[in-house]
Amino acid sequence: MRRAGTNHLSVRGAQALAAGAFVAIVCLGGCGGGGTTITPTPIPVSQTLRGAAQQHNLLMGAAANSGTLGEALYASTLAAEYSLLEPENEMKFGLIHPGAATYDYAGPNALVAFAQAHTMKVRGHNLVWDSQLPAWVTAPAAPWTPATLSQALSDHIASVVGHYKGQVYAWDVVNEPFNGDGSIRSMIWQDTPGIGFAGQGTKTIEQALTWAHAADPAAKLFVNDYGAETLNAKSDAMYAMAQDFVTRKVPLAGVGLEFHIDPSFDTPGNLTSLGQNIQRFGALGLEVHITELDVQLSDNSAASLAAQAKTYQDLMTVCRAQTACTAFQTWGFTDKYSWIPSFFPGKGWALPFDLIYGKKPAYTSLLQALQ
Ligand code: G3I
Repeated sequence: MRRAGTNHLSVRGAQALAAGAFVAIVCLGGCGGGGTTITPTPIPVSQTLRGAAQQHNLLMGAAANSGTLGEALYASTLAAEYSLLEPENEMKFGLIHPGAATYDYAGPNALVAFAQAHTMKVRGHNLVWDSQLPAWVTAPAAPWTPATLSQALSDHIASVVGHYKGQVYAWDVVNEPFNGDGSIRSMIWQDTPGIGFAGQGTKTIEQALTWAHAADPAAKLFVNDYGAETLNAKSDAMYAMAQDFVTRKVPLAGVGLEFHIDPSFDTPGNLTSLGQNIQRFGALGLEVHITELDVQLSDNSAASLAAQAKTYQDLMTVCRAQTACTAFQTWGFTDKYSWIPSFFPGKGWALPFDLIYGKKPAYTSLLQALQ
């Protein structure tokens, strides 16, 4: 996979940074012969994203990967700036449960340990999805029946949620279950072959939430999707599901809005619609997490970075105005490891920190929106 980080900009003196909040002055291609200056000045809490967000009872999150925790600037930035960590990939079915009787907890355990060491909460991602599945699920030795597939999913949820009981604060139990028109997505767990609830609307989601709740009654359980940020057919379907679940006491704590966007999202109409959408879930007593925000660009010109900064700031302002909006998370935090360039060739520069962990205008605008 092509990664933005394959270019070779040097960050010298990284080892001089201890984990924690410090100001680093880095030099690209030299600093006039004098070497890099590192100023180990502790940053006041209100001048980090996590500290500023904490003042508003808001969790500031980032998706992360265990493979890069050994990189000093990656680790120190993540720990200093974020209070919520979500494994970008390593808790997904195919990675954490690669064989029918094999679980691989090494990567996610490292992320959970990192979070605990830095007083961060963990969002688990995810338990039920139609992507990143292992071959033993997608190409089984014997065809699944609803009974055997139901048992497999039940075992998976009980094992994974049980393993992290008390350590994962919130789970994306079901990921991306809706089509754009609000219908339920056809996926292996739903109706091909399904766990027994084909044609029964949100019953598969309800079952998964019930299994997860049994495994960790204290965990906050979420349904997460993209394209449901504003008032539209998908968010209407999500809302109808949420209303039904709240009425019948199905253990749903909230919904996740992904937010993989570009600056064109940032219109007064969308921001108003977003606020109304969050508000209606809040009126049900539910939380709303912004779960996977990134704002992709076509270049990193000053104008593009300014438009991106405004987008981040406007979204944070909407979130802050809604008490139901309790977590604001980006999908990664440094452009060095963003998924965008590999999935959208020519696009990138989507996150608040640049390729060498420098703070972009988007970082500053987020901090301003949190004052
Ligand atoms: O780890 C393997 C590596 O061993 C192999 O050499 C390489 C070859 O391509 O692939 C690596 O796996 C990749 C994995 O990311 C880790 O980098 C997969 O190919 C790649 O498909 C996978 O992409 C992830 C994608 O989900 C899968 O659908 C992205 O990193 C991840 O950011 C993305 O995250 C999703 C959320 O879970 C759900 N919402 C949408 C979001 C963006 O698509």
